[in-house]
Parts: sequence; C-alpha cells; structure tokens
Amino acid sequence: MYLEDREIMRITAEGWELFRLDGATISHALEELAEELVWSDKGSFRHHMLKEIHEQPESLRRCLSGRVVPEEGGARLGGFDLTTRDIANISRVGILGCGTSFHAGLVGAAAMEQLARLPAFAEIASEFRYRNPVIDPEALFLAVSQSGETADTLGAVREVQVKGGRVMGVVNVVGSTIARACGRGVYVHSGPEIAVASTKAFTSQVAALLVASLMFGRTRLMAADESRRFGNELLGVPELVARYLADPGPIGKAVEMVAGGKYVFFFGRGVSHAVAMEGALKLKEVAYIPCMSYPAAEMKHGPIALIDANTPVVAIIPDDVMRDKTLSNVQEVKARGARIILIHSEGDDASAALADVSIPVPRTRSSLISPLLTVLPLQLIAYEAGLALGRDIDRPRNLAKSVTVE
Ligand code: G6P
Repeated sequence: MYLEDREIMRITAEGWELFRLDGATISHALEELAEELVWSDKGSFRHHMLKEIHEQPESLRRCLSGRVVPEEGGARLGGFDLTTRDIANISRVGILGCGTSFHAGLVGAAAMEQLARLPAFAEIASEFRYRNPVIDPEALFLAVSQSGETADTLGAVREVQVKGGRVMGVVNVVGSTIARACGRGVYVHSGPEIAVASTKAFTSQVAALLVASLMFGRTRLMAADESRRFGNELLGVPELVARYLADPGPIGKAVEMVAGGKYVFFFGRGVSHAVAMEGALKLKEVAYIPCMSYPAAEMKHGPIALIDANTPVVAIIPDDVMRDKTLSNVQEVKARGARIILIHSEGDDASAALADVSIPVPRTRSSLISPLLTVLPLQLIAYEAGLALGRDIDRPRNLAKSVTVE
C-alpha cells in the first residue's frame, strides 16, 4: 500500500491503521508487487559491491530479455505505452537523473541521437528543475533513477508534469515514488542493489536506454537489417561481460598506480567520456581519491597544467571513430610524465603499446555498446583501491544509497 506525503500507518500485531496528519482515517488499495523484494546477502563475496559487479551478466540478461526482438528487427518496451505514431511524433528527448544515473543518461542521449536521430540531451535533475526549463509538449522526458526515490529527480519529474510535458521512468525499484509519479516507463530489472556505489544498475540503465533508442530508431528510420545487427550485438553483451569478468586483466597494477597518486585523471571521448565520469565517480565514492574527468580534447585547455611526473591517467579508448584522436591526447599527457592506464578493445596492440597498464575489454562493433564493457575495469579498480586503502566499501562515508532530500 503506497502512502502519500502526510500520511501515517500504524502497524501492530492486530493489524494496521492508516490516517492523515490531520487525524482523518483513510485507506488505499492494496497492490501486490510482481517482483519479490528480497534482502540480498553477499553469498561468497566479501562485499555487496563486488557481488553486484559480478551479477552484471545476469542483470543485463534480465534487462534485455524479451525486449530486443531481432527477428522482428527491433525492440519492445511495453511499459512506455507509445504507439508507433507517438514515437514518430516525438520532437526531442530529455534524460534527467543524478550521479550514476545521469552518466547512464549521457550514453542514452548519444544513442537517441545516433540510432533514432532524435535531438537529445541529458541533464542533472537538480539543475533542470530550477532553471525554469522550456518544456516542448511533443518532447519525451525520461527520468533515470535506480532507487526511484531521489528527491532531485522527482522534483524534475514534477517540473515536466507541471508544464504539461510527458515524462516516463527508467527505474530499478518497482513501485518506487518516481515510477509511480511517472506512471509509465521501463523497469531496468537489475535486482536489489545494496552497495552505495552503483554498478549493475548503471549497466542496466544504459542497456534499457539503448533498447529504447533502438525501438525509436527502428520506428523512425533504421532499416530492419541495421536494427537486427544492433539488437543481436546487444543480446550478446551479457556473454562478453561474463568473459571479461572471468579474466579482468591487470587490475592490481592499476590500483597500485591510482592509490599512490595525489589525484587521478579520467578521460575519453563521446560515450567514453560518460564512462570516464562514471569511473571517476566510483573511485571518489569508494576510495576517496580526488579524481577529475574530462573529454580528452579538453585537457589542453587547462587541466593539462596539473599533469606532472607520475600523475595517473585512466584513458578509455575503445576502437571507435574517436580512437586515434584520443590516442594523440594520451601522447600529450604521456610526454609530460603521466602514467597511463589504458582501457582498450581486445586486439588493439597499438593502443596497448602506449600504456603503462593496458586493460583490454571485449570489442564491440557499435561504439554505443562499448560503455557496457569499458566501465567494468573502472568498477573493479574502484573496488580494489577502496579495499587496499581500508575504506568502508559498501557504505562509504557521507554517502547514502538514496538521497531523498535536496
Ligand atoms: C546517490 C547514490 C548514487 C546514485 C545517485 C542517484 O547519490 O549514492 O550512487 O547514483 O544517488 O540515485 P538514483 O537512485 O536516483 O539512481
């Protein structure tokens, strides 16, 4: 039974009683949740965070299953409740969220533009809600939230609604406030996430946004064979994630490098910049190491002044159209003494040769899919660095899993 603001339920051995703050007794309909709410234990893992990192093949499978339908050449997200005509008429897409969910939104916005050719942006919900945004009634807003309880994201949802806009949820927790406020949307199905630092929710949010982009793309302009190729590649990702996690490469060496640094730079371009932001956030949250993330080309406009001998730089460079440009940015910081941890596609020996620590991840044909793989070593680096520094991994200081205040 969902309680609204200013309602109180008293539960006793005899039953329950629901009333408003003004004392009036009320009642709401009981709803049965389709998904089981279980307290997840750590199993054989030392921390929830590590367990959740290793759950990603399964959580991604759950997120994609039944939604990507290559034989139909497209994707289906019933919860969106949009007809093909509705999809054809969307004017733009705005993706709102905080923290990790915002980073997933950045990948989603790139996918909406590239696959569906829809003008799209991602914005931090706390900023959006107070800038008196222009809400185009033909636009579609997506509110991304693991918990579905983040006050700033809920505030952004209300702002869209007050102005007559359309907003749907991309949420993990079934029946959460944001899911209910939006009414329509897609559950990402990553299962309960206990560690404060988000890992499996991020990959599932990205996957759900890729599925939505594929669905919109197929309706608007993608040919069947193109969307089939993308869908098939997406369906293969859980397997690739499992393969990477079984042999994650020299994470220990990368940890030695970042744990010894005063600060760490993360850089990438395009969707890999969103991954750089997420990697930097993870390392801040879990290991308390000061980190900065930049689109690689922006380094020369100031941040490069901070590079000196032995500054650790984590570069995310999958083999995509930005590869060569980003590699030249790596050379620029290397020439100034930086030590490079390079996340690259398997088989890209030329990139590996530039690195002090080279971490290959399985290759993807579409660069939009690469974040689902390139983020994995960054999650492991943050986890292992937190462990090496004796941090409280699952419950870092000053942080909360869901932030229900402004
Ligand atoms: C908190 C958590 C972050 C999370 C953010 C957004 O700050 O510590 O891990 O990314 O809130 O949470 P949400 O539940 O809306 O995804």
